[in-house]
Amino acid sequence: MRRAMQRVDETSAPSLGDFFITTAHSMAGLTVLALIVWRLKLRCEHPVIIGAGSVSPRWAQLARVWHWFLYVAIIAMVATGAAAYYLEWEFAVSLHGQGKWVLGTLVIGHMLASLVHGFIFKDRVLQGMVGKGEDADTMRGSGQSAD
Ligand code: HEM
Ligand code: HEM
Repeated sequence: MRRAMQRVDETSAPSLGDFFITTAHSMAGLTVLALIVWRLKLRCEHPVIIGAGSVSPRWAQLARVWHWFLYVAIIAMVATGAAAYYLEWEFAVSLHGQGKWVLGTLVIGHMLASLVHGFIFKDRVLQGMVGKGEDADTMRGSGQSAD
């Protein structure tokens, strides 16, 4: 992406491949932002139980914070990417480049945690991802608090 972007900047007639890569990257990022805003709206309207109710309050709190960091990191990537692409802010280019490590670390930690839940703890966290967990209305009846 970085090299494609440099070539697009340096030439008045970029190749079709570079044009496609840079456009697809920025459009995909903006689509992710739209989906995230929509997801957060639904999330506020329909609260879910962290870990489908099968983790302790302390771990549920850590998961909640981790998920919020994921949301913030994704939004920050889109914001810095857009500032780099449309406004050509050098500072944003640097933040966008560093941000990939932050987001990557959060995503890898998140994926490892879900695998540990699914295959070592064998609880219901992973099932929650594929829609087999219990929703907030069901759990409310059993005295658990919704996120
Ligand atoms: C193999 C890939 C992945 C697996 C198996 C996975 C698994 C899960 C599971 C099980 C949950 C529900 C946790 C709960 O019960 O509260 C979850 C939530 C979440 N995942 Fe993933 N995930 C994956 C990839 C990703 C990626 C790539 C991202 C972002 C870049 C991501 C972002 C999130 C966020 C933000 C939530 C919280 C949703 C909410 O409740 O608001 N996940 N994931
Ligand atoms: C979830 C959203 C996004 C992710 C995960 C992401 C990820 C990346 C990555 C990994 C790179 C390569 C950085 C490097 O090699 O150091 C990159 C470069 C770049 N991205 Fe994004 N990006 C996202 C959204 C966007 C958006 C929405 C735009 C523009 C509207 C954008 C514009 C750029 C630009 C201009 C570069 C080249 C920066 C440079 O010259 O070093 N990105 N992005």
